[in-house]
Amino acid sequence: MTIEVCEPPFPGGEHSLCWWGDIAADLMAGNLRPWLYTPYYLGKIDGEVVGYMGCQTPADTREVGLVEFVWTDEAHRRKGIASLLLGRLVEEFTQAGGLALYLCTANPHAGSLYERHGFRYFVGDGMRYLAPGAGDFDRDYLEGGSPAEVRDATWADLPGASVLYNHPEPRWVVKDYLSESFHDTRYESHFVKTLRRLEGRRGVCLALENAKRRLVGLATVERRGSFAEQHTGILSFRVAPAFSGQAADLLNAAVERCADLEVAVLHVYLADCDDDQKQLLEEAGFGEEARFKRRLRVDGEYVDMVVYARTIAQTAAALFDEGYYYGGRKDWQRERVDAAG
Ligand SMILES: CC(C)(COP(=O)(O)OP(=O)(O)OC[C@H]1O[C@@H](n2cnc3c(N)ncnc32)[C@H](O)[C@@H]1OP(=O)(O)O)[C@@H](O)C(=O)NCCC(=O)NCCS
Repeated sequence: MTIEVCEPPFPGGEHSLCWWGDIAADLMAGNLRPWLYTPYYLGKIDGEVVGYMGCQTPADTREVGLVEFVWTDEAHRRKGIASLLLGRLVEEFTQAGGLALYLCTANPHAGSLYERHGFRYFVGDGMRYLAPGAGDFDRDYLEGGSPAEVRDATWADLPGASVLYNHPEPRWVVKDYLSESFHDTRYESHFVKTLRRLEGRRGVCLALENAKRRLVGLATVERRGSFAEQHTGILSFRVAPAFSGQAADLLNAAVERCADLEVAVLHVYLADCDDDQKQLLEEAGFGEEARFKRRLRVDGEYVDMVVYARTIAQTAAALFDEGYYYGGRKDWQRERVDAAG
């Protein structure tokens, strides 16, 4: 078998080499290259692809990456193909200064493959590989480099988001309400799914980046999609503890962007027990508005979920009119109803 390392564009390959429908066409067409370096490792026998896997790191900093889309042709399984490809991927990643690789799998056989290459189960079914010498990664990566600055999140933040959301701290029960991530679920393709959903003024995603170019905070606002609720948005955020002093900068920047989005009321869903998260919200002008009793299951107990809110404006222009699919009757339907008396 020969190993070919190649990068998109792969014309016509969008349905085979990327399993994330949300970005497959863009990734395969090479449209994400300004943000992400996405080498594929193809195993070939007599010119035929018999196995592949991909890696995604930011285009400029190669410290962290995701391993995705790992596959070996059924007729060639258990011959060491995935192992050879993964060995090459890990070797190139560490040679380029890589520190940590993230992946997840529900397949126990794939789990054994990854374990053989130094990956360890980390959060839920998520696994992580730390490069030799990167043993202090959890302590080091999200510290130092103050002050951090707020900027728009981009596709390049995909691996950094994995670091931030799979990190054990902060131990908030609701890790990311928008992607239904809780403290013991791994976070991986959630970021690209969210970013894609926000396009077309459906929301905004802001990054808090430290002086070492590491993602140390993320805040996402997603507008509710119905005609009736379109002036409201859900805010979800996470900030590395070392940067909690700058959480208000991130939250206030998100609030400011709500004016462009015509979002007048923001809601945040969090667990009643997460007092430090409440405090960050209160410092940014949010307050408790509602409570769902026993809504969250945490370590065998039930915990209330609280909704924090901040009213940003009394009114907002409607971005969807009543002709919008979830808006109500359209003019022609109204005319028919009137005509029918
Ligand atoms: C998982 C998969 C990629 C493994 O590919 P492969 O080329 O057969 O793997 P390898 O031959 O390199 O195996 C490497 C190691 O993985 C483990 N492994 C792989 N398949 C296994 C199986 N069926 N049973 C038990 N262990 C297995 C073993 O530890 C193996 O080492 P060994 O053969 O020396 O015992 C392949 O089975 C596959 O494509 N599965 C479907 C897609 C999938 O689940 N991908 C993973 C998504 S996260």
